[in-house]
Amino acid sequence: MVGFKSLAAAIAIIPLVFSHPGENVEAMKAEMIKRNEQHAAATRSLSQCQDSPQASALKARSAARRAAKVTELRQKRGITTRSLSHQKRDLTALESWTLQSHNMSSEAYTLDTPEATIFGSNNTCALVPETTIGPYYVTGESIRSNITEGQAGVPMHIELQFVDMNTCEPIPEIFADVWHCNATGVYSGIDTSEGEGGLNSTFLRGVQSSDEEGVAAFDSLFPGHYDSRITHFHLVVQTNVTLQENSTYTGGKTLHVGQVYFEDALVEAVEATTPYNTNTIEFTTWEVDGWMLEEATNDYDPFVEYVQLSDNLDDGLLAWITVAIDLSSDHSTNLTAAAHYYSTGGVAVSGSSKGLPPSNPNAS
Ligand SMILES: *[C@@H]1O[C@H](CO)[C@@H](O)[C@H](O)[C@H]1NC(C)=O
Ligand SMILES: *[C@@H]1O[C@H](CO)[C@@H](O)[C@H](O)[C@H]1NC(C)=O
Ligand SMILES: *[C@@H]1O[C@H](CO)[C@@H](O)[C@H](O)[C@H]1NC(C)=O
Ligand SMILES: *[C@@H]1O[C@H](CO)[C@@H](O)[C@H](O)[C@H]1NC(C)=O
Ligand SMILES: *[C@@H]1O[C@H](CO)[C@@H](O)[C@H](O)[C@H]1NC(C)=O
Ligand SMILES: *[C@@H]1O[C@H](CO)[C@@H](O)[C@H](O)[C@H]1NC(C)=O
Ligand SMILES: *[C@@H]1O[C@H](CO)[C@@H](O)[C@H](O)[C@H]1NC(C)=O
Ligand SMILES: *[C@@H]1O[C@H](CO)[C@@H](O)[C@H](O)[C@H]1NC(C)=O
Repeated sequence: MVGFKSLAAAIAIIPLVFSHPGENVEAMKAEMIKRNEQHAAATRSLSQCQDSPQASALKARSAARRAAKVTELRQKRGITTRSLSHQKRDLTALESWTLQSHNMSSEAYTLDTPEATIFGSNNTCALVPETTIGPYYVTGESIRSNITEGQAGVPMHIELQFVDMNTCEPIPEIFADVWHCNATGVYSGIDTSEGEGGLNSTFLRGVQSSDEEGVAAFDSLFPGHYDSRITHFHLVVQTNVTLQENSTYTGGKTLHVGQVYFEDALVEAVEATTPYNTNTIEFTTWEVDGWMLEEATNDYDPFVEYVQLSDNLDDGLLAWITVAIDLSSDHSTNLTAAAHYYSTGGVAVSGSSKGLPPSNPNAS
């Protein structure tokens, strides 16, 4: 077994390996070193934030909001008991039922831990490193909070909280554009010839603007896995976008391109449930990439924290992560789309993942 921090670091780095098969290893190593340096600098900047009055006040408000949300979601699902029943469960199952916030800070929670304690944790600020956008970004998706579209899987309400890395203040009115594969590893919006859901499908994709507390929330489901990748979802953060009347946006300056991950115990537990366990694509663990661990020198924490709504995973999860943003950054050149979704259907970007927005078939 390797240390948890190394695992986190390795996972954060994996996308660089698999998203560009055949890419020069030395170039990748050089980029990793650069990213480690940038990350260390940003971590120093962030750590000055942690004890600020702004951060404390934000934390208190976030704790109250998340506790209320959990109560609301539990009520909606008619969940009345929060107690773990301790009978007839093997160790693996019990671990999977343990209500634990991803325990980076060595805090383990049980189903009986008061919400105030869970959400009052100091472990709330993650610096999600810039990563590759990958081959499945589709522009033109709808601004909507519920991106489920009837897909089957473990329900997941996810809160992305954006804070200004330099002031620790929440960032309102930035746009989080998210996408992930379904329980059996299929992306919408991408041509079926590649085994994906088709250009006209839009499931598990959507956009939300952050509110005055800097929070963008989505109702989705826990992602499945696909070839050569550990379970994750994608996130692009934009500012200065142009809103369209049909609840889409164009343009914008890209503040962040990232991927968010889930701790191993949670991934394992979900993968054991139906329909995740019907996925025939081989599961990829970070261990296959053992050599990367040697490059992993520091403290990336791309894992979301979460609580289960009950001891039954099918009842769903509330997950959250705080993403620190450098408002002066501009990653627009990294925003490469595979397709654009129009009122007339999806259109693949020719020579895809080279990133130029496709010409608009609506414009004449
Ligand atoms: C997670 O929490 C448990 C219980 O406190 C602890 O034994 C374990 O060491 C923690 N794991 C890590 C990696 O901190
Ligand atoms: C969080 O950090 C503050 C200041 O460092 C400390 O006073 C407080 O007890 C911590 N809270 C928890 C829940 O650990
Ligand atoms: C972002 O784009 C720049 C410039 O094209 C490139 O050097 C860099 O590697 C890209 N970063 C990522 C994480 O893909
Ligand atoms: C989201 O939409 C799905 C239908 O696609 C629905 O079953 C589900 O209840 C909705 N989730 C919430 C939290 O409203
Ligand atoms: C994932 O999407 C594909 C393509 O639309 C579909 O065939 C499959 O049933 C979906 N998986 C689940 C678990 O719904
Ligand atoms: C915002 O976008 C507009 C074009 O839509 C551009 O003219 C302006 O310079 C942008 N502002 C910033 C601060 O990027
Ligand atoms: C939304 O409106 C824009 C601008 O009119 C248009 O180009 C696009 O096709 C529309 N998208 C959808 C999904 O209706
Ligand atoms: C997508 O839908 C549009 C409009 O309904 C249709 O013209 C187009 O053929 C569809 N594309 C695919 C790939 O099915």
